[in-house]
Amino acid sequence: MSTGRCTCKNCASISRKRTFKQLQTGFSHQLRLRARIDECYARIQRRLWPVTLEKSLQSWQAPLMADSSIETTNGYDVVAPRWGDKMRALGYYDGYLGFLSEQQRHLSGDLRVIDVGAGTGSFAEAWVAINGAPRELVLLEPSSAMLKQGQAALRRRGTEPALIKALLGGVELAPSDEVLAAHVIEHCPDPLLALRQMRDLLHPGGQLHLVISKPHWCNAIIWLQWRHRTFQEAEILTLIKKAGFDIERVYNFPCGPPSRTSRGIVATRRD
Ligand SMILES: C[S@@+](CC[C@H](N)C(=O)[O-])C[C@H]1O[C@@H](n2cnc3c(N)ncnc32)[C@H](O)[C@@H]1O
Repeated sequence: MSTGRCTCKNCASISRKRTFKQLQTGFSHQLRLRARIDECYARIQRRLWPVTLEKSLQSWQAPLMADSSIETTNGYDVVAPRWGDKMRALGYYDGYLGFLSEQQRHLSGDLRVIDVGAGTGSFAEAWVAINGAPRELVLLEPSSAMLKQGQAALRRRGTEPALIKALLGGVELAPSDEVLAAHVIEHCPDPLLALRQMRDLLHPGGQLHLVISKPHWCNAIIWLQWRHRTFQEAEILTLIKKAGFDIERVYNFPCGPPSRTSRGIVATRRD
């Protein structure tokens, strides 16, 4: 059936040029649009996130956090069924994989690992994906619903975790070789105490892999729901050293939401 279009070489070439021109115009339109979005984003950041706002947020956070642990736990019970998928969709699971695999390590399987504030086990899952199953993997988490999801996620990887339903410092645990803690101490009323409790969960020389929230306007939005706090790099490094650790390295997440909201730190228990 004829389309009514001339198919001679000349006309075909004109039509190709036109299509290319249309594509070019569409592409530069997209670029202009993207530039305008970036500009708006930067403007919002400049307006909404001056130092004063950061400071005042921190001062509201302290009293609100003191008695928020129980409410936070109830909140996590509610979000548990979708939390693991959300962590993947927002790039946190991939971020954890990148952080944990950045350092070339040859670990024996004979390790005891504790994931503090494990949630649905994303950080522990990333650890197992990289290093294989440790001798013992403990998920320490106050929300039963989160623990249940974490157990299922690790079972899918062939690992049976020990589940401890408690707050950090709420139970005595045998010391371990590694402690993982992603986005937890920002929910603890006394971060230095939380870090000391994490140190006590380690053998001397044991390693802490910490992911913590840093100041960014994305965290101001997250704060509306979770009332967590953020840490400037210098502040958290000082706290970690004060708690009895040597800092090994600081990790900057390369892309996506983790690059805006979070920072990774590896530290070793001093003695
Ligand atoms: C933001 S979620 C992070 C979960 C998980 N680590 C992850 O990266 O997906 C914080 C978790 O810490 C838990 N949590 C809050 N306060 C805690 C505390 N004092 N001790 C232990 N866990 C706590 C919450 O129940 C929640 O599951």
